[in-house]
Amino acid sequence: MLASVKLATRLVSHHPWHYCHRSVTRLSVHEVLTGHNEDKKKVKIQGWVRSVRAQKEVLFLHVNDGSSLQNLQIVAEPSLKHSSISFGSAVEVSGDLVRSVGAKQSVEVKAEDIRVVGECDTTDFPFKIKERHPPEYVRQFPHLRCRTNTFGSLLRIRSEATAAIHEYFKSNGFIHIHTPIITSNDCEGAGELFQVQAGSKDPAPGEDGGFFGVPAFLTVSGQLHLEIMSGAFTKVFTFGPTFRAENSQTRRHLAEFYMVEAEISFTESLEDIMQVMEDLFKRTTSSLLDKCAEDLSLFFKHVSPGQKDRSEKLIKNKFIVMSYTEAIEILRRAPVAFQYSTEWGCDLQTEHEKYLVRHCGDVPVFVINYPYDLKPFYTRDNEDGPQRTASAVDLLVPGIGELFGGSLREERLHILQSRLDRLGLTDTYQWYLDLRKFGSVPHGGFGMGFERYLQCILGVDNIKDVIPFPRFPYSCLL
Ligand code: 4AD
Repeated sequence: MLASVKLATRLVSHHPWHYCHRSVTRLSVHEVLTGHNEDKKKVKIQGWVRSVRAQKEVLFLHVNDGSSLQNLQIVAEPSLKHSSISFGSAVEVSGDLVRSVGAKQSVEVKAEDIRVVGECDTTDFPFKIKERHPPEYVRQFPHLRCRTNTFGSLLRIRSEATAAIHEYFKSNGFIHIHTPIITSNDCEGAGELFQVQAGSKDPAPGEDGGFFGVPAFLTVSGQLHLEIMSGAFTKVFTFGPTFRAENSQTRRHLAEFYMVEAEISFTESLEDIMQVMEDLFKRTTSSLLDKCAEDLSLFFKHVSPGQKDRSEKLIKNKFIVMSYTEAIEILRRAPVAFQYSTEWGCDLQTEHEKYLVRHCGDVPVFVINYPYDLKPFYTRDNEDGPQRTASAVDLLVPGIGELFGGSLREERLHILQSRLDRLGLTDTYQWYLDLRKFGSVPHGGFGMGFERYLQCILGVDNIKDVIPFPRFPYSCLL
């Protein structure tokens, strides 16, 4: 079969386009595998070798360039085997795109030339050919783990999910706002803050007021900035990094994570917000199941067997709604000894959240109307008793617990004013009170932890395995 392969004159050049005496098309592996390519087309492929098999008559390479989970098969004469072609090396292959005789792939490239662009020392390379390494091992190599199949699939899915979320908001009339990363507000205790700069408006004589003249922090949430914007654009969203310096060493906390946040004006009730949360979740998930079937199948097969059915179930059923008070009743009746208190007024812990979801048949659950004192100052008072409950909502999902947090915001000036007075925050939030003085409208919004979303859909146990470079207490690699 290969005897007829004519070796092209090898051009010793590092410029990829210097082959163009004949028409050579540079294609990604994905384009080769999915395109309608004519037979015998001259192509050039660049990527990293995933396997090398040298037989007497023929050399087989599998090359991957990150564009798909599948590798492209290269067949070549054994004479094209350089000693430096190995697992992990970077190569550039030129040849004819042909129909494959093998059953595993429809097309392959019959190589005329294989150039090793970058060698790989397989002895030191931490990943071994055809081995499935455990996530704890892979995590030690944040600079190389994107070369593994699992992490490659994860990052393609993450990229598609990002696009699907933007698409959801765009097609529903939301304006995308870049809320700041450095901020002087702390969104009232949404989490511990990382301080960027110390600062003071009135430094003592001889002292420096700091870069900004006020203390500055990394944002814990873009909510307050979004509230400003919802007062002009009605429906707004942001999707960026958020930072929390809490010392939570769990499988669902990071010090730097991505949050999808939306804010909507002219709401009538919490249901308006919950509708958007449910739609966003379901549409993003359907889009992933549709567009990332191959990458998802790796997770469904090797990472979390049974997850395909679980993820499909998440988009089939209407989400359940229960009040915090009902949730507490369910927990108190549960035949389970919880570690944390289930008294009315206590915050729900992960163990409670997971129990509630299981109790509801593994269908996501909205818990609404939390005790007033558990929620930040901006949460709308339900006025169902003296500061009894507030219009807040959490969405709890299987395996994770809390995925979304949201609320109606207190739009009534006098109520907000007296709450801020009680907290001694009136001066700090004068600008926030202004929003209630100048055309205030009922509004609300939510935030969804993007990494927790990916964990939920993919069935990934540890949040550190769904973000390219995880940051958590005592670890900031690279
Ligand atoms: O419930 P949270 O703290 O809500 C807010 O910050 C609101 N200001 C959002 C808003 O209404 N615009 O956080 C929202 C979500 C949580 O439900 C959770 O999924 C995720 O962000 N999250 C984290 N994800 C990873 N690591 C952490 N340390 C997280 N903290 C919160």
